[in-house]
Amino acid sequence: MKEFLNVALPKGRLGERVYAMFAQAGFPCEELLDPKRKLIFENPEAGVRYFWVKPSDVPVYVERGAADVGVAGKDILLEYGPEVYELLDLNIGRCRMCVAAKNGFRDDPERTLRVATEFPHITRTYYTARSRDIDIIRLHGSIEIAPILDLTDVIVDIVETGTTLRENDLTPIETIVPISARLIANKVSFQFKHKAIQTLYEGLKEQVAAQEKEAEET
Ligand code: PRP
Repeated sequence: MKEFLNVALPKGRLGERVYAMFAQAGFPCEELLDPKRKLIFENPEAGVRYFWVKPSDVPVYVERGAADVGVAGKDILLEYGPEVYELLDLNIGRCRMCVAAKNGFRDDPERTLRVATEFPHITRTYYTARSRDIDIIRLHGSIEIAPILDLTDVIVDIVETGTTLRENDLTPIETIVPISARLIANKVSFQFKHKAIQTLYEGLKEQVAAQEKEAEET
């Protein structure tokens, strides 16, 4: 019996783009795009089983071996530091982790900086390297509200188009790190399912290279 390659996909628009790349790399599973609420899909012929998970949970499934491979944003990988192999930058889901503040904000280095974020580890690392005293307020969404209500001075969050910041009269003041989606693999699966993972890796790498070439030419 053919062994399955178990794949954790981030639920949402990014996940659908990732699936299209996986399908082209030789791991199709048509019913995956069925708009019902099922979360696990398999295609025995292609030897692949997909499951949709919350994007920030992808590394947990892969680290623990419930999934052999998955795709996670670099933000999630930096924040949680899972014990997985990061195999490839898929060059999609591109955005950046930024510090943002109210328009006209002036930092007073004499005072502890209050920072709202969903990414306390990335935030702590960034400011520790700058020897800046901070007070982190961990939120779970709508971070942009924090400086408006004077809960904090700044936020550390993901900026893609910049629209959310603009619409809330905030402005990015520093870029911490660029972000994109990464292919990750469980360390044991990488040995025991090497052939399937290698096929997937090669197929994805080709597509990334083709996209880069196309971008250069336009
Ligand atoms: C992220 C982030 C911002 C928004 C930025 O939220 O937290 O709110 O995207 O995108 P923009 O620069 O294009 O406006 P996301 O939609 O991923 O949801 P979340 O708040 O649940 O993290």
